[in-house]
Order: sequence, then structure tokens, then C-alpha cells
Amino acid sequence: MSILLTGGAGFIGSHTALVLLEAGYDVVILDNLCNASRESLSRVEEITGRDLSFIEGDIRDGDALDALFARHAIEAVVHFAGLKAVGESTARPLAYYDNNVTGTLSLCEAMQRAGVFTLVFSSSATVYTESSTMPLAEDAPTGRPSNPYGSSKLMIEWLLRDLQAADPRWSIALLRYFNPVGAHDSGRIGEDPNGMPNNLLPFIAQVAVGRRERVSVFGSDYSTPDGTGVRDYIHVMDLAEGHRAALDVIRQDTGCRTWNLGTGRGYSVLEMITAFERASGRPVPFDKVGRRQGDVAQCWADVTRAGQELGWRAERGLDDIMADAWRWQSANPYGYRG
Ligand code: NAD
Ligand code: WQD
Repeated sequence: MSILLTGGAGFIGSHTALVLLEAGYDVVILDNLCNASRESLSRVEEITGRDLSFIEGDIRDGDALDALFARHAIEAVVHFAGLKAVGESTARPLAYYDNNVTGTLSLCEAMQRAGVFTLVFSSSATVYTESSTMPLAEDAPTGRPSNPYGSSKLMIEWLLRDLQAADPRWSIALLRYFNPVGAHDSGRIGEDPNGMPNNLLPFIAQVAVGRRERVSVFGSDYSTPDGTGVRDYIHVMDLAEGHRAALDVIRQDTGCRTWNLGTGRGYSVLEMITAFERASGRPVPFDKVGRRQGDVAQCWADVTRAGQELGWRAERGLDDIMADAWRWQSANPYGYRG
């Protein structure tokens, strides 16, 4: 029996594929390569010494999904596929609702036709209502997100809860990721954003490697210890292991459950820059500029539930994150293109 990873060629999917292959699972990947390259998967095969099955296709293509489920004995699906650029989602909301919400609907319909009812979904801490009280536990209020990307994640959570309530054969994990960063410690796979990075750590890494001049620090007047935004940065390998833990739990039982995947502590933008300088031995020049629209001052997870119910917690610290991110960036300055 195999695990299907939609969007498995991307950043989090490729690391999760590696963890699942190493744990002995067979892995099938469906990805339309709109934000990834096939090279990530060749490298996963090279690191693990195992083959995986790759199908280039779209989750909105019901016929392609039916053919995939007919050909492979799929036991469970980990659903990463989707668009994730917050700013772009404001400019192209229909593309985001189509890819993310319609895509998930199409996937669930195909799973239903194939009799596969076990699903892990990539949700996000962005679904939580802005709050001055940290940490955020899973029962903290979810609210109207500040952009269509976030709304699409919340809509999918509702869709999946309604689906499970209507048909108790379903077993669903809603995994709310905090800020995934870092890379596998081989330096062979990592985050490879297209164009200008939207997220902090890839931007810092590109400055350190000489691809960009300076980091813009968005806001230095927040009510945080040094005035810059605080986030819960989780190593992508810890996150990948969290998926394995969730799969192991939901395969035993039905229901729809939510788990935060974070570390339980936050770091500021300035702390991130300093830690990267320390790991890379390179200067990371920065300018303090105005706040970015839609940003919150601080956000970190209460990880108690994942610890108790999944037997999982993040093991890697900030220095591991930075060392691994730098190993990947310095060995692959232009990502999978070289
Ligand atoms: P990513 O862009 O690297 O991976 C997503 C993958 O999905 C890509 O390989 C892309 O080619 C593929 N894809 C997109 N639309 C598709 C479609 N219609 N059909 C088939 N494949 C499609 O992103 P990531 O960082 O690995 O994120 C994975 C998931 O986790 C996403 O759903 C994202 O929204 C969610 N998430 C990411 C973060 C983060 O900061 N990286 C945080 C919270 C949640
Ligand atoms: C982190 C901190 C910025 C870039 C986003 C999405 C969220 C989730 C993860 C998918 C903030 C500051 C950033 C820069 C900066 N994705 N920053 N200069 O905004 O916490 O979360 O990615 O689900 O939905 O919103 O992550 O990495 O963009 O920002 O100063 O060039 O770094 O203001 O304080 P964020 P981020």
C-alpha cells in the first residue's frame, strides 16, 4: 500500500516524501510542477536509495485522479498541493480559490470514488484570529483571514469537517503549520522559491549568498522585545516527521482532528538575521522599513496537543535550522537550477 502526496515535489512535500520513504512507506506523488521541479524528487530518491512514483498532473483533473487511484493501491493521502503566496492571492483570488478549494473538492471526490478515506491536510496558523494572547492552542478562535490564501485554508478546513461529519468513514488530520524553514541536513533538498522570496528565511539566505543586497525588516515598532515581528519557525524535517506521526495516528481511527505543528517558541526578525550570520559567517545587511500590510506582531504555537496525541515534538533548534538552511543555499545558490 502506498501514500499519495499531492504537491509532493514542493518544499514540505519533498521532505515529507523523504521521511516516509525512510520509514518504509511506498510513496506516490502527484504534482503539476507549477511551483516545483522534478529534480527535488530525483534527489529524494538519491538520498534514500529508494524509488518513488511520480505523476505530473493536476488535483483538479478528476480523470487523472481516477487513473492514479486505479493504478496504485493508495492507503492514505497527504494533501500539500496548492498555491501559497499571500500577496499574489490578493491580486488573483479566483486562482487561489480554484486551486486550493476546488482542487481539494476534486481530490476528496476522487478519494470517495476510490474508497480511500484517510487524509492529512496542510493547513496554516494563518487561520487563527489575530490575538495578543500567545501561545495559540487549537481551540483558539479562527477568524476572517486577511487575505484570500488564508480564507482558502479556512474554507478547506470547514469543507473537510463537514465531509467527515456526513460520512464517518473519513479520518482527517488538519495540520496547522507555523513557519516552516530549514532544509534536509544533506544540503541536497531545500526551499527553492520562484522569483523574489515572500518569506523571511529564504530572503535572508539569498542575501547571505550574494543574490540580493539587503533584507528589508518589515516593522520595528511592534510591541515585541526588539520591536520586530515574532514567529514560530519550525524545521521542515521536524514538520515532515509530524506528518508521519499524524498518519500513524489517523490510520488507526476515524474522525477529523486538528493539530498545531510548531515549536512552541518565537523568534524575532532581528534574532533570525543574527542567527543566520552566526551560522553562515556572512554579513546580512538590513534596513528597517515600514510594516507589511496584513502582518501580526507575534504568533507562536501551543504544541501540547500534538505532544500528547501524536507523541511528536520539534527536536531541532534555531542553530540547526540556520546551519541546514545555509548548507542548502550555499551548495545550491540558484536552487534546483544550480
Ligand atoms: P510549495 O509551493 O513548495 O509546494 C506546493 C506544491 O503543490 C508545488 O510542488 C506545486 O507545484 C504543487 N501544486 C500546486 N497546485 C497544484 C495543483 N493544482 N495540482 C497539483 N500540484 C499542485 O509549498 P510548500 O511550502 O511545500 O507548502 C505545501 C503546503 O503547505 C501548501 O498547501 C501550503 O499552503 C501549506 N503551508 C505552507 C506553509 C509555508 O510557509 N511554506 C505554511 C503553512 C501551510
Ligand atoms: C516572518 C516575519 C515579517 C520578509 C507567512 C504566511 C503564512 C504561512 C507562513 C502559509 C514577519 C518579517 C518577512 C521580509 C521581514 N504560509 N519579514 N522581511 O508572514 O509569518 O507567514 O508564511 O501558510 O500564512 O502569512 O512569514 O516569513 O513572510 O514573515 O521583515 O523580507 O518576517 O514581517 O514578521 P509569515 P514570513
